[in-house]
Amino acid sequence: MLITNIKGLVGLHPKSKLMLRGNEMDDLHVLEDAWLLIENDLIKDFGDMESIPAHILNLPSQISAEGRYVFPSWCDSHTHIVFAATREEEFAMKIQGKTYEEIAAAGGGILNSANKLQIATEDELFESASVRLKQMIRQGTGAIEIKSGYGLTVESEIKMLRVIKRLKASFPVPVKATFLAAHAFPALYKDDHEGYINLIINEMLPIIAQEQLADYIDVFCEKGFFSVAETDRILKAGAEYGLKPKVHANQLSVSGAVEVAVLNHAVSVDHLEESNDETIATLQNANTMATLLPSCSFYLGIPFADAKSFIKANLPVTLATDYNPGSTPSGNMNFVVSLGCIKLKMFPEQAINAATLNGAAAMEISENYGSIAIGKKANLFITKPMPSIAYLPYSFGETQVDTVILNGEIYNG
Ligand code: NIG
Ligand code: FE
Repeated sequence: MLITNIKGLVGLHPKSKLMLRGNEMDDLHVLEDAWLLIENDLIKDFGDMESIPAHILNLPSQISAEGRYVFPSWCDSHTHIVFAATREEEFAMKIQGKTYEEIAAAGGGILNSANKLQIATEDELFESASVRLKQMIRQGTGAIEIKSGYGLTVESEIKMLRVIKRLKASFPVPVKATFLAAHAFPALYKDDHEGYINLIINEMLPIIAQEQLADYIDVFCEKGFFSVAETDRILKAGAEYGLKPKVHANQLSVSGAVEVAVLNHAVSVDHLEESNDETIATLQNANTMATLLPSCSFYLGIPFADAKSFIKANLPVTLATDYNPGSTPSGNMNFVVSLGCIKLKMFPEQAINAATLNGAAAMEISENYGSIAIGKKANLFITKPMPSIAYLPYSFGETQVDTVILNGEIYNG
């Protein structure tokens, strides 16, 4: 497939560039008036229209992208898209002024989702998550991480991870699975944290390892959820089974979550709405990515993460959706990129890099995804005609994604 007359080919980071730190995020590497050649599922070559080789102009399958940009697909490295029911009843509670913690304490929140998921069948969960994933792909997402964490029993956590495995086998996008049984203490173990942690370590992890159901282990390290010591224990147990950590850190308070994540060589710490100089200093001495989830802040009304300070400190920043029924009922990466600019004060180039190459890095797939480079997978989207790259985040709430190409083929799902 040949795409010609591209107004701007965006994200031309070389294949060897695996992540962008600090001010490296300022440059999107754009080629104007470009062509792009895809062969099978890979990016074969690109260049500028003035010097397009004559022989490729005769290729049968051609798309003219006049006035349009070509972007690498969004890489959404933090989602919870397997869930049984939406939670819009909590929406009204939030509007009344109830906090996330108050709603959770009143029987809402994660435990509410877990009760509903426990009675749903694997097929039902697969069907509803498929609808969400299709919608996300149509909005430009071409790689995704999905967490468990609404099961909270051996049976239901495994059920969720099996659903994620089925999504992986059924969709043309890479899917990374994260085991998040440490999302909340189930009611039964409210006063027996030890009992639940033992269940995670002794019952769930061996099955997950045996069936190869997860790539990562995650913990919601937060007051009222999992303590730093509990997080440490769970991450270490996961590591024994080869699961690298990704931690829900500093969402509601500065808790020591970043420090324990870094000590355990986490791939990423996610949320970071509440951070300080120490958080930044800890991350400066680590190989852990800072993943920011601005649509969660937008929906919950909690502070927005301090992306500018992270970038100034030369950290690699990632943007992701956190799509889940409680704190972020949206999987729209275009909106996340807009919020990255509008609320986190990232420049469009920084936000787009954070949502593509750095998103891929936070899933450890940036060798093959996240930028337009020869030999990388042809997962990309062609925009509607746009006046400039900044128009994409500027036109918030709208989607500029027009044609989605996955593995070198137009996606019509
Ligand atoms: O990332 N913070 C913990 N987990 C989710 C919210 C889960 C829920 O409310 O159902 C999050 O925001
Ligand atoms: Fe989350």
